[in-house]
Amino acid sequence: MQFDIITIFPDFFTTPLKYGVISKAIEKGILRIKVHDLRDYSGNKHRKIDDRPFGGGAGMVFMVEPIYNALSSLKREDSHTILLTPSGKLFNQKRARELSEKENIIIICPRYEGVDERVKEFVDEEISIGDYILTGGETAALVLIEAISRYVKGVVGKEESVKNESFENGIFDYPQYTQPREFKGMKVPEVLLSGNHKKIEEWRKKKALELTIKRRGGLIEQD
Ligand SMILES: C[S@@+](CC[C@H](N)C(=O)[O-])C[C@H]1O[C@@H](n2cnc3c(N)ncnc32)[C@H](O)[C@@H]1O
Repeated sequence: MQFDIITIFPDFFTTPLKYGVISKAIEKGILRIKVHDLRDYSGNKHRKIDDRPFGGGAGMVFMVEPIYNALSSLKREDSHTILLTPSGKLFNQKRARELSEKENIIIICPRYEGVDERVKEFVDEEISIGDYILTGGETAALVLIEAISRYVKGVVGKEESVKNESFENGIFDYPQYTQPREFKGMKVPEVLLSGNHKKIEEWRKKKALELTIKRRGGLIEQD
């Protein structure tokens, strides 16, 4: 699978992609992540990609033409294009799984006041990662890359660990414990030390459900 990121800060992605399963998947060639400088597609000698908003108001807006140029150059037959915006559809685990089926995802990372509205005519979907405002789309792009890539075959070592995670089957993950068996009077639940796998599984299911009901009032629904 290939991600193409369109950004004015290509260096932003250098360090985060060096860690964990994502970096291993890149090494193995399972994932390809290509970062493109929007200014290379400005179409003008000053590499200008933004301007003041018509009608006045604070800040700068990404112009439509550089983004159009970038998409025209990068888009393939099998590309799926995403614009990151706080007014987009809320991203969730279900969408991450669906998007992992794509061969190529192009992510546009705006900054400042966002993009000229006409950009929206050239993308397949608009995504928000939550009801809050970030400084730019780069952090949101990293969130998408991590969540989607975990579903790409071979990225997460044991496929089991993706299956049991929170949000799968509409419930949170069960509580985990490791060494030591006791810390400041807090003991690991006896059942986990019992070696009885059936009982352990029942206990985990019960705890996962209890947590989901307590935090979300029921099973997690993802539209
Ligand atoms: C400072 S924000 C612009 C916010 C915009 N003026 C508004 O109120 O909707 C700059 C850029 O960061 C990205 N961004 C900010 N919050 C985001 C979120 N919750 N999800 C996805 N992208 C976000 C978007 O690409 C946005 O255009």
